[in-house]
Amino acid sequence: MALLDIKGLKTHFTTDDGIVQAVDGVDISINRGETLCVVGESGCGKTVTAMSILKLIAMPPGKIVAGEIIFEGRDLAPLTSHQLDEIRAKEIGFIFQEPMTSLNPVLTIGEQIAESLRRHEAVTRKQALERTIEMLQLVQIPNAAGRVHHYPHQFSGGMRQRVMIAMALACRPKLVIADEPTTALDVTIQAQILDLLQDMKERLGMAVMLITHAMGVVAETAQRVVVMYAGKVVEEAPVDELFGNPSHPYTQGLIRSIPRIDLDAEHKTRLEAIGGSVPILINPPPGCRFASRCKHAMSICTKQEPQLREIAPGHRMACHLGDAS
Ligand SMILES: Nc1ncnc2c1ncn2[C@@H]1O[C@H](COP(=O)(O)OP(=O)(O)O)[C@@H](O)[C@H]1O
Ligand code: SF4
Ligand SMILES: [Mg+2]
Repeated sequence: MALLDIKGLKTHFTTDDGIVQAVDGVDISINRGETLCVVGESGCGKTVTAMSILKLIAMPPGKIVAGEIIFEGRDLAPLTSHQLDEIRAKEIGFIFQEPMTSLNPVLTIGEQIAESLRRHEAVTRKQALERTIEMLQLVQIPNAAGRVHHYPHQFSGGMRQRVMIAMALACRPKLVIADEPTTALDVTIQAQILDLLQDMKERLGMAVMLITHAMGVVAETAQRVVVMYAGKVVEEAPVDELFGNPSHPYTQGLIRSIPRIDLDAEHKTRLEAIGGSVPILINPPPGCRFASRCKHAMSICTKQEPQLREIAPGHRMACHLGDAS
């Protein structure tokens, strides 16, 4: 049984201009101990999907209008935010893109991590402090015993992200969701943080749902990949299969736009980006949501929505290309 099984999730937002179908029928499952990458350009519904799991989005204007979110056999979708407090941090940890927005500026980082530990586990103040220092050591913060008494602004961006990871992992959750955890960091620090996340995953035996807009990150970290476009899953496969046999035109475009360090400057500038942009998700056009950007689009594409179908073991995609006719 999967650790987390999201089925038919629809999360919509009511706005003055109409209903934004941000997540519109998404199926994603994560097995114990695996790293699943969810990839897609900005605005494809990755964050809303992740935040829906723990009801971290503002409701209203957001609403889960359909679907199930089965975590260890229990459906989280009908639970209230208050009921989900038990699951947050203890069972499912969350690492946000911008740590400053989720760290409390007036508490030391030690107080914040210890608070989370004490809320979920029967530990004394002293034990909580010891565990906190241990976590900071684990995420390789130098002089952890001294740094535990510092405030968030006293850390660099990369160190703050390490603190966020320590906080998310302090209660040893079974799943950690990391939403673009390195996007705000420079490239060398990005690589260090991704390595750290992988290392922590192996030590603590947790599953990771890593959200990213960068295919390069996917290649380095994922075991399995889900590609999202405009509120839907368009392709899903084990990582080697996805890069070896990318089947959806959108996935192919994302892979072609990976910066290639092996090419010289002249070739690099010819990097192929996908033309156009993600459609606004109010009254999206019928049929395939990628049609306006797809060079393979056929007449059926704007009429009928392609459904996910299995094209190889564990490899599914939603495109009319190659449909049995
Ligand atoms: N509070 C909100 N109100 C209205 N629309 C929203 C809100 N939050 C997100 N959206 C819309 O939902 C869509 C998906 O957003 P998001 O999940 O943040 O994308 P991603 O994380 O893939 O960049 C976007 O079109 C975005 O504008
Ligand atoms: S269904 Fe049609 S428009 Fe959509 S990706 Fe496939 S070929 Fe392109
Ligand atoms: Mg996002």
